[in-house]
Amino acid sequence: MNDTPHDSKRRKFLRRLWIGLGMVVVAEAVWMIAAFLRPRRHGDEQGETVFTAGTLDDFAPGTVTAFPAGKFYLSRLADGGLLALHRECTHLGCTLPWDESVGRFICPCHASTFDEAGRVLGAPATRPLDVLAVRVENGIVKIDLGHRIRRVAHHASQVTRP
Ligand code: FES
Repeated sequence: MNDTPHDSKRRKFLRRLWIGLGMVVVAEAVWMIAAFLRPRRHGDEQGETVFTAGTLDDFAPGTVTAFPAGKFYLSRLADGGLLALHRECTHLGCTLPWDESVGRFICPCHASTFDEAGRVLGAPATRPLDVLAVRVENGIVKIDLGHRIRRVAHHASQVTRP
């Protein structure tokens, strides 16, 4: 049985398709192995993941600074205290934007509002924003991304005083 030129083209196409798919599989395998072997960010043996936000002077009192890579906002309260607020709304988890013009977080999903300390100002959310541990070492502000703290109320003890 003789191949027609059409059969030959189809066979070449299928061969290239299989080679292409094989390359995709190999690339995915290499990516997965590399991701598995990649060292974690700065951390200690308890799994702490430290994010360096900047120097204390970078955050003036009464400001809220977004850190999209860490999924949090650093809020420097008017009295100088620090809170790292997780950006997820405590109602159903939408990402919260900070509205500088009104000085509050306003959820785009169902309009819950929170103040600069993450306290609920408007429903349907019922509890304050989660926080991440903050510490200041030699004037450097560090956030522990590995320990998200669920709050049911805001307490002064949650604020880091530099
Ligand atoms: S998810 Fe934010 S108010 Fe519903």
